[in-house]
Amino acid sequence: MHERARHFSTQTWTGGVIGLGYVGLPLAVTMARTGLSAVGYDVSTERVESLRRGRSPIDDVTDSELQWALEHGLEVTADPARLATTDAIFICVPSPLGRNREPDLSHIRAAAATVTDVARPGMLVSLESTTYPGTTEDLIVPAVAAAGLTVDVDVFVAFSPERVSPGDKPTTGDIPKVVGGVTALSTEVAAAAYSRIVPDVHRVSSTRVAEMAKLLENTYRAVNIGLVNEMAQLAAELDIDIWEVVDAAATKPFGFQPFYPGPGVGGHCIPLDPQFLSWRAREANFATRFIDLAEQVNTKMPDYTASRIADALNERGLAVYGTPILGVGIAYKPNVADDRESASLAVLEALAKRGARISVLDPVVGAARIESRGYPVIEPDGPYDGFALAALLTDHDAIDLERLAAEVPVVFDARGAYRRAGLARDNVVSL
Ligand SMILES: NC(=O)c1ccc[n+]([C@@H]2O[C@H](COP(=O)([O-])OP(=O)(O)OC[C@H]3O[C@@H](n4cnc5c(N)ncnc54)[C@H](O)[C@@H]3O)[C@@H](O)[C@H]2O)c1
Repeated sequence: MHERARHFSTQTWTGGVIGLGYVGLPLAVTMARTGLSAVGYDVSTERVESLRRGRSPIDDVTDSELQWALEHGLEVTADPARLATTDAIFICVPSPLGRNREPDLSHIRAAAATVTDVARPGMLVSLESTTYPGTTEDLIVPAVAAAGLTVDVDVFVAFSPERVSPGDKPTTGDIPKVVGGVTALSTEVAAAAYSRIVPDVHRVSSTRVAEMAKLLENTYRAVNIGLVNEMAQLAAELDIDIWEVVDAAATKPFGFQPFYPGPGVGGHCIPLDPQFLSWRAREANFATRFIDLAEQVNTKMPDYTASRIADALNERGLAVYGTPILGVGIAYKPNVADDRESASLAVLEALAKRGARISVLDPVVGAARIESRGYPVIEPDGPYDGFALAALLTDHDAIDLERLAAEVPVVFDARGAYRRAGLARDNVVSL
């Protein structure tokens, strides 16, 4: 075993994390929990100050878990120079898309510049941000070279995608890690380091394999969601219950994984990640037809959902224009407070454009955020009367489905929540 791999396997070392968001903060806290030390660096001084006060900005790390970590080896800082004291740096900064849906690498570039400033002999540098195949070689390898360091002699460079899904189990620390180094030795050293943080490490032969594996995982989800969303539209045409169809197909013990229809895809992973592959494919003059088709179907779902809601009102002799509608759930998925890229918001916007009077109930996202989106807030325990229809767009556990159907004349269920809860109600219309 190489001396650095042995060091990471057997010694108590310090990990540095760049970017303390949904990915970086759980990683830093997990390191503290496993008995390692961690230096978490974030460019946002506001975020660092609130973390230091023991306030976690994300659902997956509770305030008490953060406070425990701060007392047991986690240092949080806005000073990048503190990273120079670490043995390994994990880059967890955002990787959004630009205006023309091309990768916006500005955060990864900035983190790479930080690496150039702080890299020291013996360090491991691992990129975790989701990105196109080739990024680690294109941006991180030159960043360590600019520090005067040579891969496999002074430093080790790898890519390891984060696969956590906020609000869902399992969480960081329980999910196997795919690890690919820029060389076989870098893979060995990175795998040794990750073995101290997660229970299972799957080594691959290059950073590009690891980068593309992450994109395949999320493209698989986007394509299958697109497929079932198209099936939902067909089933509605044929007057067949799509939810019953999926449940029936899911009884097959092999060869079928159920995906469920919904008002569209949201969040900052499923709608975005396949676009990294599409972009890279265009550069190689290759057409990614599945990705493009899934995107077309999924991005049309909010409008389709709004049309189905209009139909439900029409069947009761009501127009969308001027009708009070209660939008229920604006987060992009159940039980998270995150409404970025949420399809629910796109549905409400489509209804508002047609003149509906929208109010919003979301016990998880909370009143301040709903108001910032420009909608009047209905408190969870407040009265639901006066609405012609409730559009259940994100089915948080905290939503009282029985009460909703009892108090609002029609519920449009875009998530199959009533069916899953075994609640049969005559006034519930499903997508
Ligand atoms: N959120 C998820 O569910 C998820 C899951 C898997 C992978 N990812 C990927 O992980 C990466 C990070 O995503 P996230 O959701 O944690 O983002 P986030 O926006 O929650 O957090 C990113 C943090 O990085 C900080 N930051 C930005 N630029 C920085 C810099 N140059 N130096 C230091 N700090 C900087 C920001 O202030 C912010 O606190 C992205 O590539 C994303 O696609 C996200």
